[in-house]
Amino acid sequence: MSHPADPSPLTARRCGPLTGEAQVPGDKSVSHRALILGALAVGETRITGLLEGQDVLDTAKAMQAFGAEVRRLGAGEWAVHGVGVGGFAEPQGVIDCGNSGTGVRLIMGAMATTPITATFTGDASLSRRPMGRVTDPLAEFGARITSRAGGLLPVTIEGAEDAVPLHYRTPVASAQVKSAVLLAGLNAPGETVVIEPRPTRDHTERMLAGFGAEITTADTPEGSVITLKGRPELRAQAVAVPRDPSSAAFPVVAALIVPGSQITVPGVSRNPTRDGLYVTLAEMGADLAWSNARIEGGEPVADLTVRHSTLRGVSVPAERAASMIDEFPILSVAAALAQGETVMNGIAELRVKESDRIAAMVAGLRANGVEVSDTPDSMTVCGGPVPGGARVQTHLDHRIAMSFLVLGLVAEAPISVDDAGPIATSFPDFLPLMRGLGAAIS
Ligand code: S3P
Repeated sequence: MSHPADPSPLTARRCGPLTGEAQVPGDKSVSHRALILGALAVGETRITGLLEGQDVLDTAKAMQAFGAEVRRLGAGEWAVHGVGVGGFAEPQGVIDCGNSGTGVRLIMGAMATTPITATFTGDASLSRRPMGRVTDPLAEFGARITSRAGGLLPVTIEGAEDAVPLHYRTPVASAQVKSAVLLAGLNAPGETVVIEPRPTRDHTERMLAGFGAEITTADTPEGSVITLKGRPELRAQAVAVPRDPSSAAFPVVAALIVPGSQITVPGVSRNPTRDGLYVTLAEMGADLAWSNARIEGGEPVADLTVRHSTLRGVSVPAERAASMIDEFPILSVAAALAQGETVMNGIAELRVKESDRIAAMVAGLRANGVEVSDTPDSMTVCGGPVPGGARVQTHLDHRIAMSFLVLGLVAEAPISVDDAGPIATSFPDFLPLMRGLGAAIS
């Protein structure tokens, strides 16, 4: 399981200015991919800055179960001795991906074109999330798949013996779907093509190229057309994982809303497929100063200095949703402190994340006296003073827990979350890091 069985509640209270440096952990998306591509490469991949959150540890365990040798050398430093494309062995047990949608969907893709059988499971949250979006295209490669009704976990995949390459247009804007298809395409002959109507995070494409695959992306009137040549020999690499912009978002928004704050966050990704929150906060009037732009682990990063700011409400366009898909919970916290209304459009995908994040945010904000409304694919938050005082249900969702703990730092009365355990899936040091900046969370 991905978190302790006993819930661990936490409470955040109004506090003085946040100051100092926030060293946020490695990027979760890049960490999963580094382990999976390392396992599919020939030779020993060395990873530094790996996120040692439960989601990623579950993927490391899964790679071992498929026959790769995975060793922890030190803090964030890992070695993966890969088995080569098509070299996965049949796991002896069930693959438990815990809380991680990225882990389970990418690993299903990575094994679906190898003639072995694997069964995947996860925690209560993951067991409610749709897998059909990934298993449907994997079946088109020739894999045989069974699942619970509605395409839910547990899922068993018999990998294709003679995989056929796929030409696939993604029906939802999802990097996980795109990545699952590309990873399956690795062990199919010929070219696998994914067409994305709207761009999503491109870490899989960047890293596949870094490991030596032939992969191209073309912008066309239909969207991004990604073409991968199958059966490459992936060569082991040194991967330096950049820090996670989605985790950075929590101390960043905390500093923006707690009066008098000034913090720095080194090495925040400026990958344009991940930067929608930072673009939105700037439009809201946030004082964000970027410096020392550089490339780390194949990703553009820069250092960020954040000062407390008076924010104003904005309308976030639907076209931006994919580039900040994990950041809407914390944006709605910034919006609760902004002057006027913030409207978030085109966010239906939030309903199938670790929780229904629109429902969870609406319920938690309302319970704490914030005026908020939603439609199936949008949410509107009215800014103003936040009374607070309520306990929030987090539904096994790390980002809901962290968002309300940030809101508690400025609310008139303390805000509690029912279970902070799932925070360890993505940001194990959230509590000491936030306390180190001066946050009152206990
Ligand atoms: C991820 C893609 C996104 C995101 C998730 C990580 C990835 O999911 O929400 O946290 O690493 O590919 P979708 O692809 O379902 O949008």
